Formats: sequence, structure tokens, C-alpha cells
Amino acid sequence: MLPMLKIGCVQLSTPLLLAPIAGYCDLAFRLVVRSITGPHGGVALACTDLLCPQAILRENDKSLWLSATCPEDQPIVMQLYGRDPAILCEAARWAQEHGATIIDVNMGCPVDKVTKKNGGSKLLCEPQLAVTIVEQLVKTVTVPVTAKIRLGPNEQSYITQTLPPALGDVGCSAITVHGRTTEQKFQGNVSLRGITQVVRAMAKHHPTIPVIGNGDITCPQDAKQMMDQTGCAGVMIGRGALSQPWIFRDTAHYLATGELPIPLSRNERIGVVLQHFENLLQYRGERIALNMIRQRISRYSPHLQPWPGLRKDVRHIQSITHFREYMQAGMDEKLIKI
Ligand SMILES: Cc1cc2nc3c(=O)[nH]c(=O)nc-3n(C[C@H](O)[C@H](O)[C@H](O)COP(=O)(O)O)c2cc1C
Repeated sequence: MLPMLKIGCVQLSTPLLLAPIAGYCDLAFRLVVRSITGPHGGVALACTDLLCPQAILRENDKSLWLSATCPEDQPIVMQLYGRDPAILCEAARWAQEHGATIIDVNMGCPVDKVTKKNGGSKLLCEPQLAVTIVEQLVKTVTVPVTAKIRLGPNEQSYITQTLPPALGDVGCSAITVHGRTTEQKFQGNVSLRGITQVVRAMAKHHPTIPVIGNGDITCPQDAKQMMDQTGCAGVMIGRGALSQPWIFRDTAHYLATGELPIPLSRNERIGVVLQHFENLLQYRGERIALNMIRQRISRYSPHLQPWPGLRKDVRHIQSITHFREYMQAGMDEKLIKI
């Protein structure tokens, strides 16, 4: 049986979440991931890339695209970053009106563009402000409010046992923890011990608020190991899903049965790439779709082998028809030369 995960009033079908990955987990990709399910389901919840509150309130083209969603993209988390509670509240109201099922506050992003505005992981150094932001958001919107954190600014100053319960005190509905510190960025191994500390602290103070573990999951066994070792209620997968959007279907099967499902065939995987391209065309238009699929093919490539020259060939493709024909030929194993 699959473990159940509920975030506030939102009951999820599996304990599996797609992580926000700025520049990657857009509507076109989220719909691909959501479409791949098996008898035990697939991804249950996906998240927009982090959204700048000022930009979405101005409703410029880029922020409208970044926050774009549709009925098939439900339930959806919209993630906001920043440090000004008033503006974050205004943006959260906007997000709720524009389809957000859950509002998440980014407290983990180590990237300069975000931390220069004292948002993202900078909030881990200002826990009182982090708590105030969540408290005010909870009072502003009716949908659940969650936070995505890291273990702390660095190894000497973990916030694993202090900040999560304090966020729970003011009504935070779930905590997602990426098991690294800000200083580590993406280096070193994810600390399952650090995630366990968050799980235990929440179990002690707020046993009904779920903790979602995150970091370095690239196969179903990694997900099970994180859940078993840390006791987290669900897992969030990011980079592992960029090259294998079917990882959620495989993981749901593995968690439910203890066995890996029959893997997607090579043709089915090529079908996934084609679907991604069609979604990009629908939502972004020809030029951007071709550019994006050229970038993304290197992620998919290891899972489509044997296919000599795939990455190089796709870089030279200039039209929609050509891309479709090239992938179709790969599907039929009649590899064509560009
Ligand atoms: C290129 C890139 C962009 C990211 N963008 C976001 C973001 O917008 N919001 C966020 O909370 N985390 C972001 N993350 C962090 C991921 O959500 C996730 O916590 C991290 O990659 C670890 O999980 P993974 O090993 O499953 O990828 C980003 C990570 C990468 C590599």
C-alpha cells in the first residue's frame, strides 16, 4: 500500500512531488510528467518555478508564462520568493486567484539573484522573518501555505530543530527539506540524518504536519531509502525527473509493491520526448520549442540509447517537421542521418 500524504486540506494520490527547477519544470514539462502514470499512480503534486512577487503582480509576459497553469496541471503549488511580507501576501492572493492549490515560500535557493534580495536561503539566517512571512500568508490566503527549506546556512548552524516547528506554530501545512546546507549549494551528499532531524522535530511538536524529503533521488530505491531512513511522509524529485519523467510512475509502483515495474520501452520513452516537444509547441511556439528541446535532449539522451549522434543531430534540426520525423525514425529504429 502506498503511504498517504495530505497537505492541509489537499489529499494527494501518492507521496511523490515534482520539485521546482527554475527554467525546467514549466507547464509543458509538468504536463509530460503528470501524463505518465501506472496502476499505482505517478506524480501527485507539481510546483511552478520560483516566482518573483513584484513581477507577477506587474503581470509581465515572463511572469505570466512562469505562473501559467491549466486544469490538467492540478493540484499545483505556486512558489514565491522574497522577504517583504506585504508584497508576498499580495502575490499569494494573486496566485490563489490564478489557480494555486498551495502556496510555497522558497527558503532554500542559494542563487545570488534571489539571495541578493534577501530571499531564498537568506531567510534561514532570519528565522523570525521567515516565521512572520508564513504567519501573514496563512492569514491572507485560504489555500495551504508550505515552506521549502535547506538544513541551515552551513554545517555549524543547522535550523532543522528550530525553524520547522516554529513554522508549524503559525500554520505552515508542510515542510519540504532539501538535505543540504546553503553553503553546500549542490555539492556533497544529501544528509539523510539532517532530514531525519526535521522529521523528528515536527513529530514532536506538530505530528500532523508532513515533512517531505528532497535531494539526489534518481531511482525508486533512493526514494524508498529516504522515506524508510528518515521517516519523511513523501519525497520531492527534481533533477532525476528531468532525464526520467517516468520516475514517479516507477517509484509509485515500487513503493506500493516492493517491485520495479516493467520499464517503459525505448519507443515509449521517445514518445515522452515527442510529447514534451508538442507541449512546448502548444504553450511556447515554434522557436522556443525547438530551442528548448535542443537543450533538453542531452538529459533524455542516456535513456534513449542506442542512438548514435542523437545530441549532435538534434542540435542541427531547424523545423518542427524535421524534429518529428527524426524522432519517429528513431522510434522505428530506422535512424536517419541529418
Ligand atoms: C537548476 C536548478 C534550479 C532550481 N530552481 C529551484 C526553484 O525555483 N525553487 C526551489 O525551491 N528549488 C529550486 N531548485 C532546487 C530543487 O528544487 C531541489 O531542491 C534540488 O535540486 C535537490 O533535489 P534533486 O536532487 O531531486 O534535484 C533548483 C535546482 C536546480 C539544479
